[in-house]
Amino acid sequence: MTEQFEFTTDKNQEDHETVSDSGDTSVFDAKTRDEAQQIIARYPEPRSALLPMLHLVQSVQGHVSAAGIQFCAEQLALSTAEVSAVATFYTMYKRKPCGQHLVSVCTNTLCAALGGDAIYRKLSDHLGVGHDETAGTPGEEGSITLEHAECLAACDLAPVLQVNYEYYDNQTPEQALELVKALQRGEKPAPTRGPALSDFRGAERQLAGFFDDLESTVAGPSAAVETLRGAQLANERGWTAPSMPDDVELPPVPEKK
Ligand code: FES
Repeated sequence: MTEQFEFTTDKNQEDHETVSDSGDTSVFDAKTRDEAQQIIARYPEPRSALLPMLHLVQSVQGHVSAAGIQFCAEQLALSTAEVSAVATFYTMYKRKPCGQHLVSVCTNTLCAALGGDAIYRKLSDHLGVGHDETAGTPGEEGSITLEHAECLAACDLAPVLQVNYEYYDNQTPEQALELVKALQRGEKPAPTRGPALSDFRGAERQLAGFFDDLESTVAGPSAAVETLRGAQLANERGWTAPSMPDDVELPPVPEKK
């Protein structure tokens, strides 16, 4: 019998959204079940495997469906409520089917001030969608899910955006628009740093810990000149951090009442 259930989410920017679909786990084939077991085997306790398991689910379905929730619960001997609580907490787990590509525009303070808001507006106008919405049919070639992102830890290269979590640094609205148009044509322009661009499901597979072509996955520049500049200057000028003695006295900790 197929279980029907729904979970309600609240991701601070939107009203409550309800996702409901079939909890039939037969969508996960023998290969996926084997890979789930491989993930579980990495940890002393099966429940510790939940985060990569949810990424594995997204690599198959493009989002975390009710079937995905049920699948994780069965594999990890958790309740569906426990899995739902985790899946609805983190923004990287999508409750609606994602496009072929996920475009995340940083609109946090520094990027916003340097053009991130303008980039987001440009892409939103072009795609005709807003946050967490998809232009085109999810999963089909050229479909794009757009989202606001909080700081992507690349402030020295602001404004930045990511496609499937790969970085495109120092963007202008025009460059970002050209990038998205290329994605819609089925092209995969090279990210500024990191490996060649995959698609959302491919990225999710890597986040689950499966690297079908490890060499190409780790290819590409891994750090920007701007990021290394401080270390280079310190090196050139002979600056070093003060040494830290091993026997530092720890400050007293107030007693707990
Ligand atoms: S504010 Fe955009 S990367 Fe930090």
